[in-house]
Amino acid sequence: MLICSTVKHLREALSEKNLSPVGFVPTMGALHAGHISLVEKSVRENRVTVVSIFVNPSQFNDRNDFMNYPRMTDRDIELLSGYMREDDIVFTPGEKEIYPGDEPPVIFDFKNLDKVMEGAFRPGHFAGVVKVVSRLFDIVIPDVSYFGQKDLQQVVIIRELVRQQNRKTRIVSCPVVREPDGLAMSSRNLLLDPQLRKGAGIIFRTLVTASEMVSGREISEIKEFVTREINNTKGFRLEYFEIADELELKPVKMRSEMVPGLKYYGCIAVWAGKIRLIDNIGFNCSVLKG
Ligand code: PAJ
Repeated sequence: MLICSTVKHLREALSEKNLSPVGFVPTMGALHAGHISLVEKSVRENRVTVVSIFVNPSQFNDRNDFMNYPRMTDRDIELLSGYMREDDIVFTPGEKEIYPGDEPPVIFDFKNLDKVMEGAFRPGHFAGVVKVVSRLFDIVIPDVSYFGQKDLQQVVIIRELVRQQNRKTRIVSCPVVREPDGLAMSSRNLLLDPQLRKGAGIIFRTLVTASEMVSGREISEIKEFVTREINNTKGFRLEYFEIADELELKPVKMRSEMVPGLKYYGCIAVWAGKIRLIDNIGFNCSVLKG
């Protein structure tokens, strides 16, 4: 496994090896089993895997969140060495490498995909994600890139980005990896104080019940239930819960709007103290019929 911190070194290594297909896993580090599931899949499915570790300032709408984001590159590299092979590459660029100042502007029409859920509550977040992913794709030129379903809206936006930019990269979305109590793994879980971490299983338990309710209850009832469950847990506050389709992510207000055959997800954002957590669950389509 090779470690590259400059674009030049990475490009040279990739052209020297001239191996394909190239699989790519972009991350912001503080790696956990969720990230590793993407890495393992890429290593299985490609001749070379590139994992990038870059805490992208442009996608943080909150300066404190950026400053406090966990950084542990040495530990991450050590962890990755257990999963990556000889030809694989860890890319650990500094900010100047990614944003030298003369990079081409990213032209992208969000088509309202950034107006809901994460986009609505974190203004500018997806513009930053699109900026960095577009730049990373220009650098790595991957055949396949792996993203986690945990950030559902991010996957939908990246698919649209690839479509609009006519890129050859195939986007693969991977299932959410969870802690034993159901909490979706996240680098931010490290920042939870022990009491809040103990209570955080409520998020997934609530999503599971919500997904069971969808067969017989109105959306408003499900939303009331989710709001009650979360807000009645000490230290937790619901930011949003929406049921949205997988294509346009348009939140539905009434069951009658739901189109049978289309996949829907219950998407949630919760404040646990000062830490913001997101998660989602797929709804079973067959229960929507009738
Ligand atoms: P980061 O939060 O580090 O996540 C990197 C990738 O790991 C993302 O595709 C994310 O969805 C996936 N992931 C995180 N937790 C997961 C879990 N519990 N199960 C499965 N996959 C999980 O997402 C980003 O970084 C950034 O926005 C990035 C795409 C790197 C651009 O800066």
